[in-house]
Amino acid sequence: TRPFRVLALETSADDTCAAIVDSSRRIWSNVVVNQHYLHEGYGGIQPLVAMHAHQRNIPTVVRQALTDANLQMADIDGVAFTRGPGPLTTLFFTAFSLVPGLPGCLSIGLNAAKTLAAATCKPLVGVHHMQAHALTAHLTTDPAPEFPFLTLLVSGGHTMIVLATSMHEFRIIANTVDRSIGSTIDRCATLLQIKWPQDLGPGPGLERFCAEDVPDEAGAPHFQAPTIMRGQLAFSFTALHSWVERTINAAGGTEHVPRRALARAFQNAAFAELETKLLLALKWCETHHHAVRHLVVSGGVASNTLLRQRLKTCVSRTRFMEMKLVFPDPSFCTDNAAMIAWASMHRFLAQDHDQFTIAPLPKWSI
Ligand code: KG4
Ligand code: ZN
Repeated sequence: TRPFRVLALETSADDTCAAIVDSSRRIWSNVVVNQHYLHEGYGGIQPLVAMHAHQRNIPTVVRQALTDANLQMADIDGVAFTRGPGPLTTLFFTAFSLVPGLPGCLSIGLNAAKTLAAATCKPLVGVHHMQAHALTAHLTTDPAPEFPFLTLLVSGGHTMIVLATSMHEFRIIANTVDRSIGSTIDRCATLLQIKWPQDLGPGPGLERFCAEDVPDEAGAPHFQAPTIMRGQLAFSFTALHSWVERTINAAGGTEHVPRRALARAFQNAAFAELETKLLLALKWCETHHHAVRHLVVSGGVASNTLLRQRLKTCVSRTRFMEMKLVFPDPSFCTDNAAMIAWASMHRFLAQDHDQFTIAPLPKWSI
């Protein structure tokens, strides 16, 4: 029999994605339509703007995924979608609640997937977005990392270190106590008035700004970012965010600070936080007798070249130097539907399907 083919949809954040992947790991198509240009003026993702863009774009990406693969719906065996979680948003912040997730965004992909599955009599599977990020390397890397592996997941909504013991068993070793690294990067890039590159968001904007072959401003102070949660297996990024904000305010505005020096100090401090906690997590695995040989780094921030280099160097200088670091291709680190299709595959193969009445889960632990 031929491999099982899944059409998957992803609309949990600001990218509208559709992809077709089969159980032999063939990626037939992988379509991503971003909408950064809609959000740049706001300095971050606006849930309602994102939702309307998903609504406009979803039929086009589905059509494109089928066209690129040269397949019809009749050639598809199952339909998958991102069921949750959505990144935290403060748009609806009130005195009473911080509404988690972009439920409106999730429901666009979910309803499209349900309707496609219902109309064509195909089974349906809802996927955990962060599990999909964690399993991406199994789709894109040869040889695939072996279970159990450790994974550093760094995205717009999450920052965590997870021990993956099977396709469906994940244990959180470290989590953020406040914001994610991605949202902190986005906020600080906005505070530093860094332009978003064409078709890309604030993260790549900051990366490029820091990497440009231009020295720090003459006479810039040696910025010393605060050290956070020393020795604890938990991430924190609010202190770093407020430090950037305070530094800018104390100087009397962004135009009065040495932007390049501050941007670099911030990016280095954010990555140092990842390094420190990663080493703690590796020690934790050792103490708890988890024989981990692979470390997978995934999620949007993992597409950062400097971070990749730093993590490699950092691990190679410790007794964990034998650890194999796995970085999926940057295009699979940022949001895509190929990873959603892949994370649904074991459930389709086990005939573990979801009902057509399934609801989104904006808040959903890995
Ligand atoms: O995984 P992802 O695409 O979406 C979520 O699941 O949230 O991650 C998006 C996050 C954003 O905060 C974005 O600014 C950040 O990843 N990001 C980067 C880079 N590319 C994306 N951060 C730093 N450097 C990059 N090159
Ligand atoms: Zn993501």
